[in-house]
Amino acid sequence: MTTEFAGPKGRSMGDFSPEYMEHLQQYVDADLAEVPQRILGQLLLLEPIREGMEVNQLEHSLQTATRADRAGASLDIVVAALVHDLGKTISNENHPAVAAEMARPWLSEEATWVIKVHQDFQGIHYFALMGLDPMMRRRHADSPWYELAEQFVDDWDNHAFDPDYDTLPLEHFVPMVQEVFSRPAKRPERLRPVG
Ligand SMILES: [Fe+2]
Repeated sequence: MTTEFAGPKGRSMGDFSPEYMEHLQQYVDADLAEVPQRILGQLLLLEPIREGMEVNQLEHSLQTATRADRAGASLDIVVAALVHDLGKTISNENHPAVAAEMARPWLSEEATWVIKVHQDFQGIHYFALMGLDPMMRRRHADSPWYELAEQFVDDWDNHAFDPDYDTLPLEHFVPMVQEVFSRPAKRPERLRPVG
């Protein structure tokens, strides 16, 4: 429930009063309640993206998450598997970074990291065909989550292009999306109040 503001609203952010800023925050907070539904909407945007393969990118995401779920992965990792390619709705080239930043305020640090580096790990399976370094994953050798990323990519993401796999439907993952994206959103360090 939002309220009206009686005082001057200001025409530029530099003119906003502390009272008006405080008033506006309730809209920002209320908007967060829409995030789970928006994530589900973003996932549906993957459906028309097929990239010439046998499964479209929504099926691929569901299959990656199904494989993670059946392997007993944690809630955050299953949700990471579901959203790891969300960035493809905007940029194939840069899709891991786009997806990681979308999920970062709500997902655990390791789950966010795995999304961000998954393309580097996936390279072992196809980068040689593109003249790229197939062992790009070595850049992350010092990470405490290196083996998790290997499992994520080699066991789940890499195999999730099988049209005959009994992939779980999006409905199965809806409660997980709602739980994770209803958490309090974490702020980046630079946006935390000083003093
Ligand atoms: Fe993928």
